[in-house]
Amino acid sequence: MECTREVTDDIYWVGGNDRRLGLFENIHPVPEGVSYNSYLISDEKTCLMDTCDWAVGQRFLENVEAALNGRNLDVLVVDHMEPDHAATLNEVLIRWPNVEIYCTMMASRMYRQYGYKGIENLHTVAEGDTLSLGKHELTFYLAPMVHWPEVMVSYDKTTGILFSADAFGTFGALNGALFADEMEIDDEWFAEARRYYGNICGKYGMQVQNLLAKARGLEGLAMICPLHGPVWRKDLDLFIDKYDKWSRYEPEEKGVLIAYASMYGHTENCAEVLASELIQAGVTNVKLCDVSGTHVSYLISDVFKYSNIALFSVTYNMGVFPKMKDFIHDMQALNIQNRTVTILENGTWAPQSKDLMTSMLEEMQDMRVMEEKITVMSNASDDQREAICKMAEDIKATLEG
Ligand code: FEO
Repeated sequence: MECTREVTDDIYWVGGNDRRLGLFENIHPVPEGVSYNSYLISDEKTCLMDTCDWAVGQRFLENVEAALNGRNLDVLVVDHMEPDHAATLNEVLIRWPNVEIYCTMMASRMYRQYGYKGIENLHTVAEGDTLSLGKHELTFYLAPMVHWPEVMVSYDKTTGILFSADAFGTFGALNGALFADEMEIDDEWFAEARRYYGNICGKYGMQVQNLLAKARGLEGLAMICPLHGPVWRKDLDLFIDKYDKWSRYEPEEKGVLIAYASMYGHTENCAEVLASELIQAGVTNVKLCDVSGTHVSYLISDVFKYSNIALFSVTYNMGVFPKMKDFIHDMQALNIQNRTVTILENGTWAPQSKDLMTSMLEEMQDMRVMEEKITVMSNASDDQREAICKMAEDIKATLEG
């Protein structure tokens, strides 16, 4: 049974929702599922904006057929070739073999690599090219590395709709509500949007800034239709401003993420003392995370949020505890910068993690590692407890600075 939604009187959401997927990209947990959005413009020519992941293929195809209402599909625009949006391309071509396909030059290469049909109807477009569908006219803008190199976005100046590919997407299935103004956009929602942004597009802040500059230049921008998550037709600046901040690697909030790696609880104890001292000192925006029990995608989301990070780690096999090392590697890979970092190490006979973590952070851009670091040998002494209290004061000073 079809389950479409009207975006405007002649544009329809024809995507699908996957609530069974464990790991998006086989790496990021999606406990609330994910939506794969596709849109059908019903003009003099009918035009499908991207396809969908294989997992929702049946529903997607039913939706496209319903939105076409007996008409042929004339045009397919492929803004993004990643298989979560292109896996059902061949299924579309089996049903509508004469559809004319538009994508970037690089996407056309990927199109061949994936072995999709319809090469004879493939057209490549460049920055600023337009395509008239009748009443609607699409303008294409390149958006390389948001989040793959072949990506473009499409702007329908008739309606002011920006089909934004992965940009402005989020994790989470659409549960009946299509528009952001039909759902509660609270801190919890933004946490998932930030987790999506940080892990999917976070590495490419400069490229996201380039796209934002293009979006700001669009005359009459009225709606954003991403490939995941809700459609934005109100308060667009709310989300655009978050993207602006995240892509400049500017902390969203002054606060402290305390991420600890502990084997028998002694390092955890140090992290708890720091959290407690911070709270008592009036620094209430504190989050404590065990890196062993927290998927790294959530840690990355918090890194994009907080101005200060405290990394407390045991030494393991003469190195940084593996989960902590993975976390810092992920920060490096995602180009995290502009944070103040505090370090504590623990080791019963040969603590090493302080210097190793410091070296990893020094390879990153504008990561300010605080001078005072603490070494604990097994269990924190009274002096080391005092040092953690002093650490809390120093962190507070940077937050007030
Ligand atoms: Fe949702 Fe980069 O694919």
